[in-house]
Amino acid sequence: MSDKCKKIYITTPIYYVNDVAHIGHAYTTIIADVLARYSRLVGYDTFFLTGTDEHGQKIEQSATAKGQSPKAYADKISGEFRKLWDEFDITYDKFIRTTDEEHKRGVQQAFMKMYDKGDIYKGEYEGYYCVSCETFFMEKQLIDGEGCPDCGRATQIVKEESYFFKLSKYQDKLLEWYKNNPECILPKSKRNEIVNFVEGGLKDLSISRTSFDWGVKLPEQMNDEKHVMYVWLDALMNYITALGYGNGEENMGYWPAKVQLVGKDILRFHAIYWPAFLMSLDLPLPDHIAAHGWWTRDGQKMSKSKGNVVNPKEVADAYGLDAFRYFMLREVPFGQDGDFSQKALIDRINSELGNDLGNLLNRIIGMSGKYSEFNVSSKDVLTYHQKEIVQVNEVLENIEKLIYDMQLNRYLEELWKLLFIANKSIGDYEPWAKIKDGKIDEANALVALVVNILAKVSVLLYPVMPHKIEKIATSLGFSINTDSYNKLIVNKELLNDTTISKIEPLFPRIEEQLLASPVLPAVEEKQECKKTVVKENEPQISEDGLIGIDAFMNVTLKVATVVEAEEVPKSSKLLKLQVDCGEEQNRQIIAGIKEYYSPTDLVGTQVCIVANLKPAKLMGMLSQGMVLAAKDENGLCLIRPSKPTTAGTQIK
Ligand code: ME8
Ligand code: MG
Repeated sequence: MSDKCKKIYITTPIYYVNDVAHIGHAYTTIIADVLARYSRLVGYDTFFLTGTDEHGQKIEQSATAKGQSPKAYADKISGEFRKLWDEFDITYDKFIRTTDEEHKRGVQQAFMKMYDKGDIYKGEYEGYYCVSCETFFMEKQLIDGEGCPDCGRATQIVKEESYFFKLSKYQDKLLEWYKNNPECILPKSKRNEIVNFVEGGLKDLSISRTSFDWGVKLPEQMNDEKHVMYVWLDALMNYITALGYGNGEENMGYWPAKVQLVGKDILRFHAIYWPAFLMSLDLPLPDHIAAHGWWTRDGQKMSKSKGNVVNPKEVADAYGLDAFRYFMLREVPFGQDGDFSQKALIDRINSELGNDLGNLLNRIIGMSGKYSEFNVSSKDVLTYHQKEIVQVNEVLENIEKLIYDMQLNRYLEELWKLLFIANKSIGDYEPWAKIKDGKIDEANALVALVVNILAKVSVLLYPVMPHKIEKIATSLGFSINTDSYNKLIVNKELLNDTTISKIEPLFPRIEEQLLASPVLPAVEEKQECKKTVVKENEPQISEDGLIGIDAFMNVTLKVATVVEAEEVPKSSKLLKLQVDCGEEQNRQIIAGIKEYYSPTDLVGTQVCIVANLKPAKLMGMLSQGMVLAAKDENGLCLIRPSKPTTAGTQIK
C-alpha cells in the first residue's frame, strides 16, 4: 500500500449531553480538526469522528430535573453540539450519537463477542458509584470515606447484580502494550502514570446496571431484561461502531485509529479499559491515545454555578475563529493545563498574527505592486537567497513529525521561525534601497523569497487557520491542496510565476483597554480588554519601512534616574543598573555601555529608557528595559533629558 493511501482515523471523546459546550470541548475538537485537515492535506484517506454520549444515570437525572424524557433532552443538547461544530467548520466525517440504532446494535455485538470469549461473567457488585463521573470506586479510594476521588461529589453505595468484564485478565497484556509502544500514550509522562496505576493491580469491571433504564439493553441472547450496559462500555464502543462494527463493517478499514484525543480527565478509561476491550474483541490497538491538559479560567475550574464558563462561540465571534484556533494550540504545550485569558489572546493576535504574519503579507503585497506590478517570479531566488532557502528547508525537514507527536505549539513555533527569516530578510536586504540603486532583479528576488516563504508557511498553517490562510493563498495566487503541499513542502520547490492581489488586512489590531470585557464574564481578570479595531487597518510597517503613529505609540519611552550601577563581572561590555522610573523605583536594566561609562559617572544622572520591552536575560541577569544611546565612530553617548525631569515622565 503506498503511503498516500494510508488510512488515518482521528477521534474526539463523545461529549455528555448534560452540559453545553465550552472552550474545553472546543479545544479537543479543534485539535482533532487540525489533525484531520492536516492528514487530508498530506493526501491520506482520513476519517474524523466526533459525537455525543447520551446514556447513563447522569443524563437520566438531568433530563428528569428538566421534566423531559432523556431522549428529547439528548436530542436538544446533541443538536447544540453539532450546530456549534458546524458553525466552527469542524470537518468531522461522522457525528455519532450513542442513541443511534446502529451504535446500539454494534455495542450488543461487542458484548456478545466478549461474552462468548469468556471475558464476561455475572456476579454482584458492591461498592461506591459516582453518578457525575459514571465511575465505580473502592472504599479505600474515596475522600473521607464518601467523596469521589475525581470530582469530590458524594458517591452512592451500590449493591446490585452485575455483569463483569475480566479486566484483571488483561493486566499483563496491557503492561506489555505500554512497554512495547512508548508512544501509545501521549504525552509520555502520562504513560508512566497509567503504567503505575495498572501495576498496582486491576480489578474486574462492572459493566451493567439494574437500578435505572436509560442505557443500551443487553443483547437478546442474554435473556436478561433487567440490565442496561454501563455507560462507559457503551460510550467507548462508539469508536468502532461509528465505522460499522457489528453493522456491515463498511469503514472498519480505518481501524486502528491514528490518534484518539481525550482530556486528561478521561485518560484512564481510554488507556486501560478501552485497549482491554479491544484485546478482548481481537482488534488492533490505536497508535496514540493523546491526553491534553485542562483549561481553567482565572485558575479555577469552569462551572455554570461559578458563572465563569467561557463560551467558545462568543470568543470566536469576538476575535475570529481562526485566531481562536491558533491561540488554543499555541498558548499551551499539549498535555499541560492552561488558563484562558483574553489578554493573552489579544497579545498573540496583535503580535504573532497581526505583525509577524499579517503585516509581512501586506508589506510584500505593497512591494510587489511597486516594483513589478504584482508579478512575482521565483527565477532569481536561489541566485540571491540560497542562504535563506537552506534555512527554510532545514526547518521544513524537521517540522512534520511534530504534528502526530502532538507537539502542536512547537509546530507553530517552527513556522514562526520561517516568518522571522522572511521579516528579517526584508530588513537585511532593504529592497527599497536596491530599487534606488537600480538593482531591480535583486529587489524582485527578495520579494519572491518572501512570497515563497509565505506560501510554504501558508500550506502548513492551513490546517490551523483554514479560512484566513485560504485568503492568503488566493492573494499570493496559488491554491492549497495536496499538489501544492507536495510541490512546496515535500519536494521543496518554489512557486511558479504568480500574480499577487491585494487583500484586506487579515488580523486588524485589537486595542487593549482597561475596561470590563463585553465578551466574557469578567471574573477577576485583572486586565480585561475591549475589542476595538483600529480604523484604517494600517499595517504596522509599510513596504518602504515607514511606521504609522500607532506603531510608534506602542513603544513606551520614559525618563529614569540611575539609582545604582555596578560592573558585571567577566563582561567587558555590560553594566548592571537599578533605575527609578516613577511607579517602579528599582528596575534592573543590563546595559552594554561599560566601555564608555563608569558606574560612578552614572549614579544620580538621568537616562531615557524603553520601558515596555519584554524582560530578557543577559548573562543570566534579568534586564527590564533598554537605555537609549547613540553610537558613532567617536564612541557612545547616552541620550538624556536636557534638564532634570521627574523620574517616570513619558517621552513623546
Ligand atoms: O467525559 N479543559 O464527556 P464530557 C479541557 N462522555 N478539556 C475539557 C474541559 C476543560 N476544562 N472540559 C471538558 C465525557 N473538556 C464522556 C467521554 S468518550 C468515549 C466518553 C473536554 O462531556 C476534554 O476532552 O465530560 C474532556 O476529556 C472531555 O471534554 C469530557 O467531556
Ligand atoms: Mg466530564
